[in-house]
Amino acid sequence: MKLFDVYPIIDIEPVKGEGCYVFDKDGEKYLDLYGGHAVISVGHSHPYYVRRIIDQIKLIGFYSNSVVISLQDELAQKLGNISGYEDYFLFLSNSGAEANENALKLASFHTGKSKVIAFKGAFHGRTSGAVAVTDNPAIAAPLNFREHVTFLNFGDIAALENELKKNDTCAVIIEGIQGVSGIVEPGIQFLQQLSALCKKYNVILILDEIQSGYGRTGRFFAHQYAEIKPDIITVAKGMGNGFPIAGTIISPAFKAKHGLLGTTFGGNHLACVAAIAVLDIIADDRLIESVANVGEYLVEKLKRIPEIKTIRGKGLMLGLEFDFPVNALREILIKEEKVFTGSSSDKNVLRLLPPLTMGETEADLFIGRLTSALSKIATPVSVIS
Ligand SMILES: Cc1ncc(COP(=O)(O)O)c(C=O)c1O
Repeated sequence: MKLFDVYPIIDIEPVKGEGCYVFDKDGEKYLDLYGGHAVISVGHSHPYYVRRIIDQIKLIGFYSNSVVISLQDELAQKLGNISGYEDYFLFLSNSGAEANENALKLASFHTGKSKVIAFKGAFHGRTSGAVAVTDNPAIAAPLNFREHVTFLNFGDIAALENELKKNDTCAVIIEGIQGVSGIVEPGIQFLQQLSALCKKYNVILILDEIQSGYGRTGRFFAHQYAEIKPDIITVAKGMGNGFPIAGTIISPAFKAKHGLLGTTFGGNHLACVAAIAVLDIIADDRLIESVANVGEYLVEKLKRIPEIKTIRGKGLMLGLEFDFPVNALREILIKEEKVFTGSSSDKNVLRLLPPLTMGETEADLFIGRLTSALSKIATPVSVIS
């Protein structure tokens, strides 16, 4: 059997990780400014995280949701405390798409309606409902029912209210900061207006914090900069630092009913200890504060690089916009400068999503290597996608 060839591959195989670094099979050390799509939150192979998982697997790794799993309660309590959503409920699943799928279903169950408003440039995952609210028809199959979805521009309050007035919308779904589209912020004022309109028309506001959450922006959730309280928040990626786990965080206005949602693997013992270890490290190492400080430090240094046209984002979720496609730059960064960075659907934007444990040392290292890579670019050419 061969693998189904759906991924463009960078020809490097990391075999070991430590903090903000990964090592390939020849022992070459790479600075990881991408965290495997924003997944590595507390750093590669953090000793406490590793110990918690090893200790747990020696006891029990899995049992289904038909028995008591008190680790789930511990996780929910810690997540409530650190995020400020103590009175919300948590439903555990395995991936970001599933967390969004469950959020959309809950909104539809709750309101009895089926239309959803999403935004241009949005990425919410690849399962049926999640891909329907993703602004990329190329990855939606005919059965993905996009006729229920209207895509609007950020800031277009008039169009938003026009849609909501029709009284057939169950939910509005929005990323705290758009990731895949190239780090695009909805704006504090727009989030506040959106939240007010959703309340006015009794429409469920779903905040997808799968990429922008878990401390990445210098707050636990990016939407907390706007001081709004959505009805549902979705999390995944950094939640397990690489162990698959996701959460749908649900306002107390929703009533649970046996059988309403369900999953085999979601909330298993190993996933829960991974997620508890992540929250313990975030709290003990004061990572959210550190992200805000290191992010600011990094941005100040990036501003001195003349080739960068704009710097978007917050904390350690940054998009660097150049006036040329960044594929050649990324190729030089990884092959010659030994730095992992990310692309986005905007070809001119380099995406930075490092581990939240990144310090000023790594920031300085990156600035040096980026400057060196920029000096090596003669004519930008298409090399990697
Ligand atoms: C904002 C956002 N939502 C949802 C997803 C889907 O998450 P997953 O790949 O875990 O299903 C992603 C993945 O990149 C994402 O960035």
